Amino acid sequence: MKVTISPFGIETYDEVFALWRQCDGIGLSDADSRDNIRAYLERNPGLSFIATVDGAVVGAILAGHDGRRGYIHHLAVHPKFRRRGIARQLVDRCLKLLTASDIGKCHIFIFNKNADGLAFWTSVGWLWREDISVMSKNIETVESDGR
Ligand SMILES: CC(C)(COP(=O)(O)OP(=O)(O)OC[C@H]1O[C@@H](n2cnc3c(N)ncnc32)[C@H](O)[C@@H]1OP(=O)(O)O)[C@@H](O)C(=O)NCCC(=O)NCCS
Repeated sequence: MKVTISPFGIETYDEVFALWRQCDGIGLSDADSRDNIRAYLERNPGLSFIATVDGAVVGAILAGHDGRRGYIHHLAVHPKFRRRGIARQLVDRCLKLLTASDIGKCHIFIFNKNADGLAFWTSVGWLWREDISVMSKNIETVESDGR
């Protein structure tokens, strides 16, 4: 089986989105619309990848940075192609490029109940941070208080 890793271009959005929808552990939202993913890829050129086998998308990863820390989102491998090192290859590609951009640390968000995901990230050397929690706020409807 030949796995090809190539840059994630917006033209493969439909296939990647279909893959994400098949994968438990990927939380999809409005942020994953075609326009938003296009914007993400444009803000972080060349840092996100797909894996293909015989031309079909079997894996994907989004990566970017804010100038000081790297972030990886939505790493997914099709269930039929798991445990063949595809996710490891995708992550390695992203991390090499983030390192080349002088980014010294990368973070991911992962659901606490995602046992497979936690097993993967631990296996490839990532540390679960007991000292940090994520807080979020929907800011689409926040009104100014006049100050
Ligand atoms: C997590 C995921 C991306 C791993 O993809 P993968 O291509 O199967 O991972 P790899 O083959 O590169 O695994 C590398 C190593 O991670 C570990 N690993 C991966 N999946 C594992 C699992 N389900 N249980 C235990 N260890 C696992 C193993 O040590 C593996 O090496 P080995 O197969 O030689 O033992 C895949 O299971 C997936 O798409 N899950 C659903 C989406 C998801 O949860 N994404 C993560 C969001 S943060």
